[in-house]
Amino acid sequence: MQLIVGNWKMNGTRASAVELARGVVRGKAPEGCSLAVAPPFPFLDVVKKELEGSAVALAAQSCAIEKEGAFTGEVSSEMLASVGCEWVIVGHSERRALFGETDEVVAKKLAAGRRAGLAVIACVGETLKERDAGQHEEVVARQVRALLAGRKDMEKIVIAYEPVWAIGTGRVATPEQASAMHRRVRSTIAESLSPAVAAKAVILYGGSVKPDNMESLAAMEGIDGALVGGASLDSRNFLAIAENAKKGEAKRSKRP
Ligand code: PGA
Repeated sequence: MQLIVGNWKMNGTRASAVELARGVVRGKAPEGCSLAVAPPFPFLDVVKKELEGSAVALAAQSCAIEKEGAFTGEVSSEMLASVGCEWVIVGHSERRALFGETDEVVAKKLAAGRRAGLAVIACVGETLKERDAGQHEEVVARQVRALLAGRKDMEKIVIAYEPVWAIGTGRVATPEQASAMHRRVRSTIAESLSPAVAAKAVILYGGSVKPDNMESLAAMEGIDGALVGGASLDSRNFLAIAENAKKGEAKRSKRP
């Protein structure tokens, strides 16, 4: 099973969001592939209407820690659930780097998403500096530990491994690099929770995923789908990524 999530980031208008959602719903998602889209907050409601009757789930790009109150400009996970979100993304590297979200804040946002009953996509990933210094595995393991400490609801949590140097840069991690990091994420889940939980965990790759690189990524054991930014803004590309994810996964199971 592959999970493909489109992170639309801060792009588009109400009209273009509707158009994009229609395009995703119109094209058929390949069997054995789950899809979700994460539009900007103001378009969640209208996109939800477009998704009705389809198997495409609605995700939000972030949420507040708090439930309600005097937090101008924030959006709570309860609000997201009330407009039909099923997923929320937390800890995206843009939130960490541009808005100062620490591991502690991201862990609290993860808890906030779960409090409202949302499934959570929690992002981790090293910077280029950290990779060049050979610290990538340790940095990502630390992020995973911080997010999952004490959690008992891993069936509702997906980890997205997104190397910061691959996001929006056109420079994708090689399938080998991605799968080595997915192994590290999985072994950290095993240490933090249990090997049985880790075996079932869903781990996505993100960072310059395109139709032409998805197949080789999904052909790697332990890559369970993708979090897609730029390429998700075109419904044909997004659906082609889903298609190629299935192709990649099928190749994997044919291996001896
Ligand atoms: P990208 O973004 O696909 O545009 O590199 C990925 C992400 O930020 O989730």
